Amino acid sequence: MNHFASIARVPGDPILSLMEAYRADSHPGKLDLGVGVYKDAQGLTAIPKAVKLAEQRLLDSETTKSYIGGHGDPLFGQLLTELVLGADSQALAEQRVGATQTPGGTGALRLAADFIRHHLPTRGIWLSDPTWPIHESIFAEAGLQVGHYPYVGADNRLNVEAMLAALNQIPQGDVVLLHACCHNPTGFDLSHVDWLQVLEVVKARELLPLIDFAYQGFGEGLEQDAWAPRLFAEALPELLITSSCSKNFGLYRERTGALLVCARDTEKLLDIRSQLAFLARNLWSTPPAHGAAVVATILADPELKMLWSDELSNMRLRVASLRDGLVTALEPHGLAQRFAHISQQRGMFSYTGLSPLQVKRLREEFSIYMVGSGRANVAGIDAERFAQLAQAIAHVCVE
Ligand code: LMR
Repeated sequence: MNHFASIARVPGDPILSLMEAYRADSHPGKLDLGVGVYKDAQGLTAIPKAVKLAEQRLLDSETTKSYIGGHGDPLFGQLLTELVLGADSQALAEQRVGATQTPGGTGALRLAADFIRHHLPTRGIWLSDPTWPIHESIFAEAGLQVGHYPYVGADNRLNVEAMLAALNQIPQGDVVLLHACCHNPTGFDLSHVDWLQVLEVVKARELLPLIDFAYQGFGEGLEQDAWAPRLFAEALPELLITSSCSKNFGLYRERTGALLVCARDTEKLLDIRSQLAFLARNLWSTPPAHGAAVVATILADPELKMLWSDELSNMRLRVASLRDGLVTALEPHGLAQRFAHISQQRGMFSYTGLSPLQVKRLREEFSIYMVGSGRANVAGIDAERFAQLAQAIAHVCVE
């Protein structure tokens, strides 16, 4: 019997496959604006100094590689929760919020998906249109009904009115996924006023928010970016938050993140955590330890924490300057106005407004890689090559 006969090939992952194609490209002027990783002025995704120092400490002091528990390292969970919700969070004080360590933010999303599927089986999940493509597949693969609410339209503008109108139509009790900051893929974030309006709809429709927080520190700052998750945690008794340490700690391949759950009280939190431990045991058993130990070491040490937050600020400011630099470089081509939104967007990504065909041409004619939707990882831009990038963009826009 040919067991595997019916297995067909699927296209590669829309983001990770770009990494592979870029690596295989021998063009000397190639530029990778695909996968969301930060690159410094040398084009390197360097390990932050604070991470290196923490790793050195761990190397010297670590005494075991035995399993960590199903919820991961309790110190990591506590300190990450404080980073997300604030050390003075009411939910923390009331002992009704808990963190489950996961393999990256993606693991947290998958755990949340399984949790919803098992324990809220009739609830659909609603994603922004557009959203990170893996959101779509994670929830669909977990067996959830996936719906969409408008976010950025064909005119490449945030449409809060349409978003609110759609959220108002969502069946009562459904789950709504919101990006805390640095919306992926568009880079368009909600204002405080917008968030307050979303909260009102969430309350009115009794929706369960799942806030994806993958870029804390890349938007306006560590505290500022946490504004919406903190608002929701104070205003609502129940909430899910997925937190990633991939970008802000530069721990991409260490797969470090957490699912935070706010429940009505400690007893209910313990019920939920018992179920999460069960689900996680069947997904990955126990989470990888190293990245979380690094994060806990940094967050527990005031000096390391300060060093890390300075390094993170530098990353954020550099990305902001790359945004402005690209728009300035487009000026001589008469395109500064058309691409002015790049300066206004936040985080690593820009929904440039380039069409799939233009993206294809950039790749084929100039070896410039971005996601087919027109999403560019601004953090991948080489400041020495603004002019070259602007010229290539102008070329595919004009012809
Ligand atoms: C991205 O959107 O490029 C990042 O979140 C990396 C990934 O896993 O897709």
